[in-house]
Amino acid sequence: MKRISVLIVDDISDTRDSIRRLLQFEDDIEVLGEAGSGSEAILIAEEKRPDIILMDINMPEMDGIRTTELMTLRVPESSVIIMSVQEEHAYLRRAMMAGAREYIVKPFAGDELASVIAKVYEMDQQRKEALGEQSKVCNDSKKRNGEIISFFSTKGGVGKTTIATNLAVQLASSGKWKVLLIDLNLQFGDVAVFLNLVPKRTMADLTESGPIKYSEIQSNFLTHSSGLQVLAAPTRPEYAELVTAEHVEQILSEVKTRFDYIICDNVSRFEEVSLLTFDMATQIWLVVAMDVPTLKNAKLSLEVIEGLHHTPKVQVVLNRTSKEMGMDPRDVEKSLNFKISYKIPSDGRALVASLNQGVPFVTSYPQSKASEAIRSMVEKLTPSEDVDPNLELKEQRRQNLSPIKGLRRVFGF
Ligand SMILES: Nc1ncnc2c1ncn2[C@@H]1O[C@H](COP(=O)(O)OP(=O)(O)OP(=O)(O)O)[C@@H](O)[C@H]1O
Ligand SMILES: [Mg+2]
Repeated sequence: MKRISVLIVDDISDTRDSIRRLLQFEDDIEVLGEAGSGSEAILIAEEKRPDIILMDINMPEMDGIRTTELMTLRVPESSVIIMSVQEEHAYLRRAMMAGAREYIVKPFAGDELASVIAKVYEMDQQRKEALGEQSKVCNDSKKRNGEIISFFSTKGGVGKTTIATNLAVQLASSGKWKVLLIDLNLQFGDVAVFLNLVPKRTMADLTESGPIKYSEIQSNFLTHSSGLQVLAAPTRPEYAELVTAEHVEQILSEVKTRFDYIICDNVSRFEEVSLLTFDMATQIWLVVAMDVPTLKNAKLSLEVIEGLHHTPKVQVVLNRTSKEMGMDPRDVEKSLNFKISYKIPSDGRALVASLNQGVPFVTSYPQSKASEAIRSMVEKLTPSEDVDPNLELKEQRRQNLSPIKGLRRVFGF
């Protein structure tokens, strides 16, 4: 008989140990893992897909309610049982709203816990049977390739990282999409700083041994409170050269079937890594500003991109639009001979404050004009229905534009 698989989530390791002990003599229950934080729990659950997740409410960084919310969306086949103490009763309603199936009040005995687990599991089996083929459909859709967006600009400081981080957080916080942000500014990447995350391991650690496996990549993810996963750039410029275009190609190949959106933040240069991301991307977002030197170089970039046959993937993003710039978005379109897909207004106050707080402006200043622009970006980018109407077009693009080594094509080596 199949045993009920359980993941224990609690920030206190003694508590996790005692729960494990309570369950060790239950023949039909198997503890398949423990997590000390919400973000760790999501990673383990996504990989191991437990039947039941025993979730503590009070945890630092991401509490049990937010973790449950994300868990329900990311690992819908697992059922969350909240473990709370008496005084946390007020939270229980929120936990159930977040998608928890049941709760149990601490302290509890082993047989009490086992019977709650068995009851929830049984109810869930009945629900799954009633839903019929639903989980099969889910598994099939997991194999679909995600949208890979490569952010590029010809000049530093035009706002690539700002837009990439805010777009990624906005996409992830809806809970509907699995989103990964990869910092490919390998020498001076600042995505982690923008999101106030502390990288313990970075992309450089992935290059130590042979072919990169998904499980290794996954153990390097940083989880933002929005649910966004981040693969940080090396912590020091001298480690940048450890990461080659081949490594990035392996990473993107591994992650593209596991995420809905993969956002790559590049350096402002045509070099092997940025060109590799162009090859593998489904969209290239060229960020431009309203000044003549930037536009002159953006035009040159569009020519290079055309030489690479990537023009159908390009979306031009005009950042820092303002009436005071002495030009109009239409002038930009005319000079680039390219339509602008997205516009982000200049919003110094929200931008600087959010950068200094390490909180994306879509979260800290949701009412700002810039946040509004990011939200309409997400609306345009994401399918309005569950079924992606652009899927056929994307597939066509992929087939026409199979990955080839860009640098060699442009510069002939
Ligand atoms: N719409 C905007 N309004 C006001 N300030 C902005 C806007 N977009 C970006 N900025 C500011 O411009 C600065 C540079 O932005 P950012 O670091 O995102 O550029 P970048 O293109 O990633 O640069 P690099 O190529 O050096 O990585 C930041 O201080 C950011 O706050
Ligand atoms: Mg940047």
